[in-house]
Amino acid sequence: MRILVFGAGSLGCAMGGILAQKHEVVLVGRRENMDAIKLNGLRLTGEVEATVNVETRESAEGLEAPDLMILTTKAYHTKSVVDALTHLPWNDTPVLTLQNGLGNLELMRAWKGSRAFGGTTTMGASLLSPGNVRISGFGRTVIGSDMDALGANRLAEAFSACGLIVDVKADVASEIWAKAIVNACINPLTAILRVPNGKLVESETISRLMSELCDECAAVAESAGVVLPDVMMIDWVRAVAEDTAENRSSMLRDVELGRRTEISQMNGMICRIGSHLGVRTPLNRAMAAMVEALEPGVLRKG
Ligand code: PAF
Repeated sequence: MRILVFGAGSLGCAMGGILAQKHEVVLVGRRENMDAIKLNGLRLTGEVEATVNVETRESAEGLEAPDLMILTTKAYHTKSVVDALTHLPWNDTPVLTLQNGLGNLELMRAWKGSRAFGGTTTMGASLLSPGNVRISGFGRTVIGSDMDALGANRLAEAFSACGLIVDVKADVASEIWAKAIVNACINPLTAILRVPNGKLVESETISRLMSELCDECAAVAESAGVVLPDVMMIDWVRAVAEDTAENRSSMLRDVELGRRTEISQMNGMICRIGSHLGVRTPLNRAMAAMVEALEPGVLRKG
């Protein structure tokens, strides 16, 4: 299978590097990262120790239609990615979004219809330096079969052939929301408090706040008709914070590097959906306002 990974940062490179064992992989990402990979190969460490040779690009322009495009860009880029790619003659190419946050699949579906697959992954990956990615765990990847069960199974087979743990689920919205709730609870608190994930469960006060935040998110999900997985969401959030205790969340890293964050696609989206459905979301609103204030150009100089 010829697979294009669009948005090859830490997760995209890790996925692409693993899939390159059995598939032809093309990475599209930022120049610095792509240049390093072109020069020295993609260096994977941690769960996998390998240097992988993959094709790299800074844009998808002029590329032959791939058999699959995996989207791993930041969620705030989804709309512009769709706008930039719609003119390409890729009508038959399925797209799988493995991004964080809410709203990505809806944008993909507006472009690709039933060829857009929703998904999530708990793979742990960090970009140590350009071209150099550490994989802390393969995690679990879920591919949605709500619109095309055969297609989802075909993708799952292509992933499992490379050793990835993949589940195919009809109710992918439940998985996407559950992951978004985990992010909406851990990410803003770690970014505001400047602590690694594990610290959130060490303090009773913060742990209580996180639990109230989680209840608010779950109330919005429920009101939106989402059936969340059969575990208490807060237990799940706490378990992720404990399992990734040493991690600095992606939002904390964005804030530390003076970059834009995904707050609008996480807590911001939960507020917007809540407001539409008449569910109050004061804690999510507070998280969104504080993290937005930490982004460049608001209270901080860009
Ligand atoms: O965004 C992140 O950093 C991760 O999704 C998570 C699960 C919060 C772990 O750091």
